[in-house]
Amino acid sequence: MNLLRANTTIIGRVLLEEDAQPPALGEPVLVSQPLLPDLDELMPLLQQIWKRKHVTNHGPLHQRLEAELQAYLGVDTAMLFNNGTTGLITALKLFDLPPGSEVITSPLTFAATAHAISWNGLKPVFADVSPGTLTVDPEAAARAITENTSAILGVHVYGTLCDVEAFAALGASRDLRVIYDAAHAFGATKKGVSVGRFGDASVFSFHATKLFNTLEGGLITTPNAQDRDKIYYLRNFGIKNEEEIVEVGINGKMNEVQAAIGLLNLHGVENEKAKRRQLRKRYCEVLAGLDGIQTQPEQPGVENSEQYFPLIIDETCYGRTRDHIYDALKARNVFARKYFHPICTDFEPYRHLPIVSTRAIPHVTEVKSRVLCLPFHSGVSQDAVSVIADVFHSRR
Ligand SMILES: Cc1ncc(COP(=O)(O)O)c(C=O)c1O
Repeated sequence: MNLLRANTTIIGRVLLEEDAQPPALGEPVLVSQPLLPDLDELMPLLQQIWKRKHVTNHGPLHQRLEAELQAYLGVDTAMLFNNGTTGLITALKLFDLPPGSEVITSPLTFAATAHAISWNGLKPVFADVSPGTLTVDPEAAARAITENTSAILGVHVYGTLCDVEAFAALGASRDLRVIYDAAHAFGATKKGVSVGRFGDASVFSFHATKLFNTLEGGLITTPNAQDRDKIYYLRNFGIKNEEEIVEVGINGKMNEVQAAIGLLNLHGVENEKAKRRQLRKRYCEVLAGLDGIQTQPEQPGVENSEQYFPLIIDETCYGRTRDHIYDALKARNVFARKYFHPICTDFEPYRHLPIVSTRAIPHVTEVKSRVLCLPFHSGVSQDAVSVIADVFHSRR
């Protein structure tokens, strides 16, 4: 289809010259938009909560959501948290890693990944990412291992899965725990196996920006049912009963209102995912054939979580920079995000730390200025896709 022509029909503006300014959208289009349940469906659940007055502390809706998520994700342990960061902090605490030991992770992630390591009194060690997946390069991770390394915290960034087989082998051969930040990977599977079953534990975020959300929230999954008790204690101040505290726990509990939203959203997730799959297809169509624009790789046997639509914009082939496109979209009321730029090692707390790489210049330091996530949710209209297409095809 001729995009410029399509745009003239939809937006009613004629773009005769190749370098004509593409039109802006009336309403801003943001990178994400929360999936929200129908208020009519939410009210009866809220009425139940109000009647019971059991508003938090593992109430019935919390228990139902945990059971439903355990089944949905096909895991043996699924424990809700009040956000993904508390989940990450708790997952690292779960394995009693030696104080001050090193945890290898990705610099290309949200700061919470590295913060969770630091909050445990552990040391983040950043390893380079693989050019294909932008997840931690197993060879760089192997190079980063020292006698003080206790764990690898891989990040399934954008929902692109880490090389879970390589990390399983590395963890087993070097006696390391393997934990995944699966904030972007809800519902992803590899060869039919749920992402929540890989490694010793995985942590999901249910923040409003995530495909499945509880406004704020998180989840730890593990492949072992025997982890439940310890996570339970860690999540609730270490309380075992009225008279016993058995762990140095935190308050990581999700409340009943969030659980109610989660129960309803879980029913809407497949529909939202289907719409995002359509949007992915549409974006791929309109960006096809543009030199220097690389879309998220398809991983063999992997079902995508449909969390993000990341691009890598190589200015040497494409002729314009990521920042140029970001600004041009913004001028047209389309708010893409430079996830994740700056990277963790650009931030004050981690600036002094190197990035261990197999290359002279770490790949992540080059790719960080090329990554861009386009708006990706069911609220992205055909008009928005046309405007985005025009920006990418425009010569300006
Ligand atoms: C990769 C990653 N890890 C961790 C988090 C933190 O999750 P939360 O916001 O639920 O605390 C986020 C973002 O929200 C994230 O994108």
